[in-house]
Amino acid sequence: MDIKKVKTIFFSPGRKTGNIASIFSRHLGYDYERYDITSHKKRDTKIELASDEVAVFAYPVYGGRVVDIMVNQLENIVFNNNIAVVLAVYGNRAYEDALLEIQDLLEAKGVKVAAAGAFIANHSIMRKVAVGRPDEKDMEILEDFAKKVRNKIDNLESFEKLEKLKLPGNHPYRKYNGIPLKPKGNRKCVACGACVNNCPMNAIPKENPRYTDKSKCITCMGCHVICPQNARHLNVLLHELSEIPFKMKYGKRKEPDIFI
Ligand SMILES: Cc1cc2nc3c(=O)[nH]c(=O)nc-3n(C[C@H](O)[C@H](O)[C@H](O)COP(=O)(O)O)c2cc1C
Ligand code: SF4
Ligand code: SF4
Repeated sequence: MDIKKVKTIFFSPGRKTGNIASIFSRHLGYDYERYDITSHKKRDTKIELASDEVAVFAYPVYGGRVVDIMVNQLENIVFNNNIAVVLAVYGNRAYEDALLEIQDLLEAKGVKVAAAGAFIANHSIMRKVAVGRPDEKDMEILEDFAKKVRNKIDNLESFEKLEKLKLPGNHPYRKYNGIPLKPKGNRKCVACGACVNNCPMNAIPKENPRYTDKSKCITCMGCHVICPQNARHLNVLLHELSEIPFKMKYGKRKEPDIFI
């Protein structure tokens, strides 16, 4: 198939998914445009794909599912019989239904998933798990995956000829109700506003950036990552109490899965 451009749409509060999406897109070898939908301020962007464009969707796995923000973003995209590549990034526990779910959502919009990958990155909440991931070995797999995807697209006669990819996952999807722990700011905060602007949920008020609106916060930890003062944290005791057993259960290294 003759493809003119790739449009890479990603959500990445902890920046690891964005990094994986960019490296993958670069190695595909087409011109590509990036759409970072992380901040609540960037969510209104209308994206339209021509029939000779490929969509890459990259998102972190939350509770074994596609993060809601990516699900909602799909409503703001105009498709024209496109093929897509999906990249689910997870924190070494499990990605469960996160590939099947996006394939179902895209199929309902007439989009065919040509390839899918599940890659591992340092867990944004349980930071002692998958430390240093993605690492050199992950990057080699990612680059090789991009080359194989390119080869598949080059050899594809037409959109119609693309067969449905068999992806892991179950119906009904795993239930996910969020995480009760929410970060908040401490005395180190100098009210620079970086977390306010970057929060995906607009959960941090400009007038008081130490506060978190718990009804909006999705515990993405983006504010923790972006804060130059290291001022936003989860409750230390409760966090440590959950992190130790989590690491014992899910600490063993997993490898990326690719489907082409
Ligand atoms: C709210 C939340 C839920 C998560 N759920 C899972 C999960 O179900 N399985 C898993 O292995 N990792 C899970 N993770 C870890 C993230 O998928 C992982 O850290 C990912 O790299 C985050 O991407 P980012 O750095 O682009 O934000 C979760 C992280 C968050 C913040
Ligand atoms: S306040 Fe909550 S939703 Fe907003 S960046 Fe921080 S963790 Fe994410
Ligand atoms: S990024 Fe840190 S220092 Fe800046 S407003 Fe947020 S909590 Fe305060």
